[in-house]
Amino acid sequence: MQNPSDNIRLAVRGRKNILPSMSEPIIAQRSPYAVNVEAGKTYAWCACGHSQNQPFCDGAHKGTGFAPKLFKAEQSGPVYFCGCKHSQAGATCDGSHKTLPPPASSLSAEEQMQRFEKDLKENDWGHQPC
Ligand code: FES
Repeated sequence: MQNPSDNIRLAVRGRKNILPSMSEPIIAQRSPYAVNVEAGKTYAWCACGHSQNQPFCDGAHKGTGFAPKLFKAEQSGPVYFCGCKHSQAGATCDGSHKTLPPPASSLSAEEQMQRFEKDLKENDWGHQPC
C-alpha cells in the first residue's frame, strides 16, 4: 500500500478527496502487479488506487469520481495490471509508471516544499483568501 507521504504532489491533490470527486488517482504501487488470470474470466481493475485488494476493486472508489475498469481475459496466463493508475492502456501496464515524479519520501524537506509551492502556483485549488 502506498505511503500517504509517498508523493507530496498527490498528497496536495488529495485535498480534493474531501470533495465529491478527484482528478488524480492514488499511486497504489510504482510498478505493475503480475496476476495469473483465467481465460474467459472478467476482472474489475481498481482505477482510483484506493482499493485494499490491489490491483482489483473493493468498492473503495465510491465518491471519488472513478470507477473500476473491466478486463476480460482472453487467455489464461500472466497479465501485468497497472499499479500506478496512470497507464494510458487502461487496466494493463504501458510503462507510464517510469514517467511519474519521484516519491516525496526520496526528496529533502526543502525539495518537498518547493514541489508543494510549485503545485500551488500551477493548480487552482479553489483557495479563497482568509
Ligand atoms: S504500473 Fe502503471 S503504467 Fe506500469
